[in-house]
Amino acid sequence: MFPETRMRRLRYGNLLRDFLSETRINEEKMVMPVFIDENIRKRKPIESMPGIFRQGTGDYLSYIQGLADMGVKSILLFGIPSSKDSSGTSAFQSNGVIQRAIKDVKASTEITIIADLCLCEYTDTGQCGLMKGHYVDNDSTLVAYRKIARTYAEAGTDIVAPSGMMDGQVAAIRDELEKSGFSNTLIMGYSAKYASGLYGPFREAADSAPQVGDRRSYQMDYRNSREALRELKLDMEEGADILMVKPALFYLDVLREARLSFTLPMAAYSVSGEYTMIRNAVDQGFLSKDVIAESISSIFRAGADIVISYFTEYILSGGLEEQ
Ligand code: PBG
Ligand code: ZN
Repeated sequence: MFPETRMRRLRYGNLLRDFLSETRINEEKMVMPVFIDENIRKRKPIESMPGIFRQGTGDYLSYIQGLADMGVKSILLFGIPSSKDSSGTSAFQSNGVIQRAIKDVKASTEITIIADLCLCEYTDTGQCGLMKGHYVDNDSTLVAYRKIARTYAEAGTDIVAPSGMMDGQVAAIRDELEKSGFSNTLIMGYSAKYASGLYGPFREAADSAPQVGDRRSYQMDYRNSREALRELKLDMEEGADILMVKPALFYLDVLREARLSFTLPMAAYSVSGEYTMIRNAVDQGFLSKDVIAESISSIFRAGADIVISYFTEYILSGGLEEQ
């Protein structure tokens, strides 16, 4: 009977459901984060993130080639350096862990490289910026970010992704890239990045936990969403090529609004804590594996063009299809 049964008719059978689905997990738009630890030769598991490893200097290249072979189109690189100091010197050396990795990966695969640009893995304080007394000093931090951006671009990265939430970071980096002849290097801004408890596992993974204090003076208050639109607008005006909302799952409202308010490519970062919650619940049998696809689909449905997820490798390697 028309129209009473139409809604059910539209859901009848798998083929029809697939044909009519509005969004899908776009595997080509998924980014895999990769941790490279200069202190180890062989990969080591990250305890709080089952299935995720810190790659060693001896095996990261074959790991990344493997990702490329399974169809991963893009990686987000994080480095764990062999030395840390108060100025984060190891972040902007031309033979630094990430600079070397960028060169090696570029020389051997076609994968798109996004290099996370921050100081928290490289400073002995674990803060994303340089300290002046008890405070993170915005403007001297920008000078360091410029140096990092330049060395990443020289190494050949496709995209730099400043994640420290300093004011003016995108403008400073864009300026530095132009001046040094890298006008084709893209900037993905971590534009709306919240001070979230969901970064916990990452800080173990990247050895980047703040030694004193927290990050609430530069990351956003999770009670706010209009503030996110202001941050996104600033990054756009400062010259970002791609905008980002982070985390993803607890912030789908922000992502949706960001998508509707801006026309630049919009990325969403489903962070370490999101991965850990789902991975552990699935591994223990408390949730069905379907929630992995459900959660990633929700991020695309909310409007993300690009999704950064620790499930990328699992999905591209066919994990969702296995029984
Ligand atoms: C560092 C950085 C963080 C993440 C990405 N870059 C952590 C933080 O700000 O504390 C989080 C990623 C994750 O949790 O997966 N600037
Ligand atoms: Zn940082």
